[in-house]
Amino acid sequence: MKILSIESSCDDTSIAYIHVDEATETATILSHITSSQADLHTQYGGVFPMIAKREHAKNIVPIFKQVLIESGAYTEKTVSFDESIITSIPMIDTGMAQELCDFLKTIDKAEIDYICVTHGPGLEMSLWVGVNFAMALSRVWDIPLVPVNHMEGHIYSISVNGEKSFPLHTFTYPYLSLLISGGHTQLVLAPNKNEYKIIGNTKDDAVGEAFDKVARMIDLPYPGGPAISKIARIAREKGMTSWVTLPRPMIHTGDLDFSFSGIKTAVLYAVEKKVKESGTITEDEKMTLAMEFENAVTDVIVKKLFKAVDEYHIEEIAVAGGVAANNYIQEQIKNHITKEGYGVRVYFPDRSVTGDNALMIALAGYKNIKEILSGNKKNPSTIKANGSLRLSLGDK
Ligand code: KG4
Ligand code: ZN
Repeated sequence: MKILSIESSCDDTSIAYIHVDEATETATILSHITSSQADLHTQYGGVFPMIAKREHAKNIVPIFKQVLIESGAYTEKTVSFDESIITSIPMIDTGMAQELCDFLKTIDKAEIDYICVTHGPGLEMSLWVGVNFAMALSRVWDIPLVPVNHMEGHIYSISVNGEKSFPLHTFTYPYLSLLISGGHTQLVLAPNKNEYKIIGNTKDDAVGEAFDKVARMIDLPYPGGPAISKIARIAREKGMTSWVTLPRPMIHTGDLDFSFSGIKTAVLYAVEKKVKESGTITEDEKMTLAMEFENAVTDVIVKKLFKAVDEYHIEEIAVAGGVAANNYIQEQIKNHITKEGYGVRVYFPDRSVTGDNALMIALAGYKNIKEILSGNKKNPSTIKANGSLRLSLGDK
């Protein structure tokens, strides 16, 4: 089965084209291209929605062309079709619609069995670009369209191992996912296939958002996670001690929820006080602050993760999302398993797919396609972008 997938929920425009050998459940990447807008958003210290939408609309057709060329699925051919199939799609970006019409008139239909697209959660304006692009292509080439939840995509990214071909992970139920990204901090229990229950969530900032905001306070670039992690590691390796102690919010609460805005505010006050007293904050002070921040965040994450493991008798954990790339968090989760003698298996995706990407959408999409084909799940007749889409027990 060949799947083309599209992801545009935040600031990455990504398209993947994969082949899945259904007999062996092995996926092969035919092409996977992601264009990040991170540099453009750096000046705002976060993602600016209008710019994100504009960039998706500008990049998506060229990326599609590149994917077809790279995978060998690009064959020139003069084709004619009624343009209104595309231009009549409500709210479609007119520039993108025209570019796609012009391009599709020059190529032969590629061998694609299903098109999968992220329909939420994320920035709604950004999501619409991918959804409308996918809808247009599905109409012109008459290929079924399957929507995918971005968070489910992150969970399915754990199969990716850095190789071109890789076996699809077989989940054992119930399993637990820790989804940590710039937009989410969630503990998700999957009692069965297609059933999700959010058992823990952040009450305020997402963990990645806290990394980004703290980075901004000490003049590090966006995205802040890798930048903070890099200097925190130096401080740790040098055995430096921090000049500040940060809170571990909600670490002892009886629930599985998180809160990161308190740590962020504590960093802000500490930095302001330091600058007031000494006129500046030194590079060494930034390093130890970054280390203490990463320690504080990790302490809370590890505590809540294993509280959930205990409460729900979990044997398998998937950790995914942009923040799952964090070395220290990965290490501490693994150390906790060894130190406390847990029999739990933990899976992290290859670092190439911790951030937003279309490959994970194709993988979750493949699972959904199989569930639709076997009658366990319904494919909606219309697909809408939904910025606040949630994983739920009713995901059938
Ligand atoms: O999953 P993702 O690419 O986009 C969202 O759906 O949010 O996650 C991006 C987030 C950013 O906040 C970024 O700072 C964070 O992931 N991040 C990290 C690391 N790499 C990326 N946070 C901590 N440590 C990292 N190594
Ligand atoms: Zn994401």
